[in-house]
Amino acid sequence: MTISLETDLQTLQQSAQAAIADCEDLDALDKLRVQYLGKKGELSLILKGMGKLSAEERPRFGAIANEVKEALQQQLDTRKTTLQNAAISAQLAAETLDVTMPGAYRPLGRRHPLNSTVDKVLEIFVGLGYTVATGPQVETDYYNFEALNIPADHPARDMQDTFFLKDGRLLRTHTSPVQIRYMENHEPPIRIVAPGRVYRRDTVDATHSAVFHQVELLAIDKGLAFTDLKGTIQAFLKQMFGESLPIRFRASYFPFTEPSAEVDVQWQGKWLEVMGCGMVDPNVMKAVGYDPEVYTGFAAGFGVERFAMVLHQIDDIRRLYNSDLRFLRQF
Ligand code: DAH
Repeated sequence: MTISLETDLQTLQQSAQAAIADCEDLDALDKLRVQYLGKKGELSLILKGMGKLSAEERPRFGAIANEVKEALQQQLDTRKTTLQNAAISAQLAAETLDVTMPGAYRPLGRRHPLNSTVDKVLEIFVGLGYTVATGPQVETDYYNFEALNIPADHPARDMQDTFFLKDGRLLRTHTSPVQIRYMENHEPPIRIVAPGRVYRRDTVDATHSAVFHQVELLAIDKGLAFTDLKGTIQAFLKQMFGESLPIRFRASYFPFTEPSAEVDVQWQGKWLEVMGCGMVDPNVMKAVGYDPEVYTGFAAGFGVERFAMVLHQIDDIRRLYNSDLRFLRQF
């Protein structure tokens, strides 16, 4: 009897040892533990036979069984540690960061030179205390012409060949209608700067486009004079282009200003007209219900494209619309 139980024990130990040594997986290892050492496992089964042993044999057999159990338990623990370490090493190896691998290319977007030019203009005027205003691109004859002292048949309408819509409205030819809309809804003093897109039936060439952008300037207050206009424009242009860029004021004519002037700056060795300006005409004041005896003001309108061309020495306005990345990436 003793012999047979001891043999069973040895057989169990040998097969368990081999199985544990061969085991490559933590789950499978736990199953082996249950199979051999669990409550209903093979060792328990053998121990149940102890009841048949004599009183002298029992302690000796019990001691051997304990040794087997402890040896197996220890082997299980060792194997478990080994497998756990191997799992961690495998994970570390799999997750190793190879810093010599080329990185993923993420193309970086840039501000379009037109947008950055408008932003620069607005930033300067906001710094001078101006508020940003906007108006619609589809306008009525009244706001685009009439209220700006350009009545029907006025020759100045020819200066701005207009796109008309079927319903009689039009695509604004300048941002000046924003002046009227803003004054209709606000009382002086006023200091606004109004960026926007404008449309003209112009023949496209290096410095003209049928769709372009303007920024409008308007200041209304008591006692504003031409020197305020000139000082403001000079301060603005210096901040915009630097102290050294030559600029000149030229007497000009606009129906909505009196007196009027145009401003030229040096571009590619010649003078380029970038802005119209003047003192707001009393008729414009009257159109919005301001008393021209009480208030005076100045206004200006300038082309964003031309500003961008001067700022970045761009030789052709059409480059700004071609979406050629080789061009746009330079900014
Ligand atoms: N609206 C004019 C144009 O598009 C530019 C202009 C000239 C605007 C004089 C003004 C101004 O506000 O005072 O040609």
